[in-house]
Amino acid sequence: MRELETDRLLLRHWRPEDRAPFAVLNADPEVMEHFPALLTRRESDALADRIEAHMEYAGWGLWALDVRATGAFIGFTGLARPGFEAPFMPAIEIGWRLARTAWGQGFASEAARSVAQFAFGALELEQIVSLAVVANQRSRAVMRRIGMHHEPDGDFDHPQVGPPHLRRHVLYRLTAADWRAAGASAPA
Ligand SMILES: CC(C)(COP(=O)(O)OP(=O)(O)OC[C@H]1O[C@@H](n2cnc3c(N)ncnc32)[C@H](O)[C@@H]1OP(=O)(O)O)[C@@H](O)C(=O)NCCC(=O)NCCS
Repeated sequence: MRELETDRLLLRHWRPEDRAPFAVLNADPEVMEHFPALLTRRESDALADRIEAHMEYAGWGLWALDVRATGAFIGFTGLARPGFEAPFMPAIEIGWRLARTAWGQGFASEAARSVAQFAFGALELEQIVSLAVVANQRSRAVMRRIGMHHEPDGDFDHPQVGPPHLRRHVLYRLTAADWRAAGASAPA
């Protein structure tokens, strides 16, 4: 499995010691505002198991994120295959979830750029998508920062989300052609 490095971050394999801080962020109401429920420790560990198993199998996935200066684990950023049917499927999704203390420093966008580069470089994907609850403005801002475009015609009701106010999702897309056209000069 490939690890990725940016100026400030290491995108790496998951480690056993990530489990405790991962459970803390999955139980934080602010981090989980746009998800149907907080995760228990058991559910958080099960999610980490699934992420690790996919990374082992595929060689890519949702990388664990470390701040290089401190070695602190702050969450994940990476690629996943949505596990439900929708008009835009099949597709590979780019996504992120960071501890509240790590917000507001550009870490998610910095990690996402290296993941997009991996998707279009090593994986040779032609496009990636990103999905979010309509009201998740912070996530949508990350999408815009890395050059993704909202496709209103692709917005959809998530079939696996129960609460009505969290069901409507936006669809953003980034093509390899647009990524290359934007070059390395994309604003931070
Ligand atoms: C979505 C999420 C990762 C976005 O985090 P974020 O901190 O807003 O995004 P970034 O890490 O890209 O940081 C951008 C902010 O850092 C600021 N910043 C500070 N230093 C910076 C730097 N060196 N470089 C770039 N931006 C910097 C930017 O100005 C921006 O601030 P703003 O939000 O006030 O405009 C975070 O809110 C989260 O984990 N949410 C919960 C999980 C979730 O909803 N995931 C998505 C599901 S679809």
